Amino acid sequence: MTQPLLELKDLETSFPSSAETVSGRASVVEGVTLSIDAGEVLALVGESGCGKSVTALSILRLIPKPGRIERGEILLEGRDLRTLSIPEMRKVRGNQIAMIFQEPMTSLNPVVRVGDQVVEAIRLHEKVSRKAALARTLELFEKVSMPDAKARLRAFPHELSGGLKQRVMIAMALSSHPKLLIADEPTTALDVTVQAQTLELLRDLRQEMDMAVLLITHDLGVVNQLADRVAVMYAGKVVETGTREDVFRQARHPYTKSLLRSMPALAKPQEPLYEIAGSVPVPGEWPAGCRFVTRCEEGDDFCGEEPAPRRRLSHSHACWCHRVEGVQDES
Ligand SMILES: Nc1ncnc2c1ncn2[C@@H]1O[C@H](COP(=O)(O)OP(=O)(O)OP(=O)(O)O)[C@@H](O)[C@H]1O
Ligand SMILES: [Mg+2]
Repeated sequence: MTQPLLELKDLETSFPSSAETVSGRASVVEGVTLSIDAGEVLALVGESGCGKSVTALSILRLIPKPGRIERGEILLEGRDLRTLSIPEMRKVRGNQIAMIFQEPMTSLNPVVRVGDQVVEAIRLHEKVSRKAALARTLELFEKVSMPDAKARLRAFPHELSGGLKQRVMIAMALSSHPKLLIADEPTTALDVTVQAQTLELLRDLRQEMDMAVLLITHDLGVVNQLADRVAVMYAGKVVETGTREDVFRQARHPYTKSLLRSMPALAKPQEPLYEIAGSVPVPGEWPAGCRFVTRCEEGDDFCGEEPAPRRRLSHSHACWCHRVEGVQDES
């Protein structure tokens, strides 16, 4: 078996909490074990507050204090990022892992021309002349299909639409040829047509550059278009993982099934759109057993008593639910 590009093992990240916990802290991500192969798109899905962004920021070791990673390993090609010094970690962020966010405007400097911002990003992690960096920036703008790329180098962020600003961010992220791109809700702020174009771009780039993508979204339509594999998170834990086909065609966890039922493209047109009753409980107030028990339509009393074990359903598909039968294993 080849080594995964990135492996998370038993990741746990906490923040101080007003909930009545012994430590005064609550873990918002707990026991997260995931892997991403080189060149693969893994979608991380779940409702707001499930811990998707915290998982991503933990990978980059960008959790704002007083948040902290409590335990676990973050292995990039076998090397644990948690053991790296700050300068070494900065190098990983500049070269091997890049991230794009939902709102490109907040990540761009409003008073600097977008071309210059990409030039600066290139020169931050590579010793190249300004002229060479500018030529590379033009290539990158062309790669992300920026219309009228040459003229756009001189544009200020406010002169560009949301979709074009996101293209600048993608160009900047690609400038270091990352092995992994983390895209946190990359299309949520864009209108539907631009969303589709941006997704298409990500799909093309991923193939062209042989880059893995950790795609964070609550939009299952986006997942269906782009993901090879899917991990579903609920209340800080992964509850189901599988290939896109496993999860879309044979979802087993009641939470995944509810998410699919609430997806407009899959719901029957005559029926009102299904909504999962209630909301994700706040960190620190999660049930002791399966965390979905308070909203689950299939659970019984036992489900609330002990955390659900991981059950393997096939070589690619796993689920953490007391009610699902499968081979139980240790992790
Ligand atoms: N800086 C922070 N300080 C305290 N709590 C935080 C902080 N960042 C995140 N949290 C908490 O961690 C939990 C998980 O948040 P996270 O942002 O990872 O959710 P998410 O799945 O990305 O949701 P969304 O879909 O809304 O982006 C939430 O309960 C949130 O309140
Ligand atoms: Mg988020």
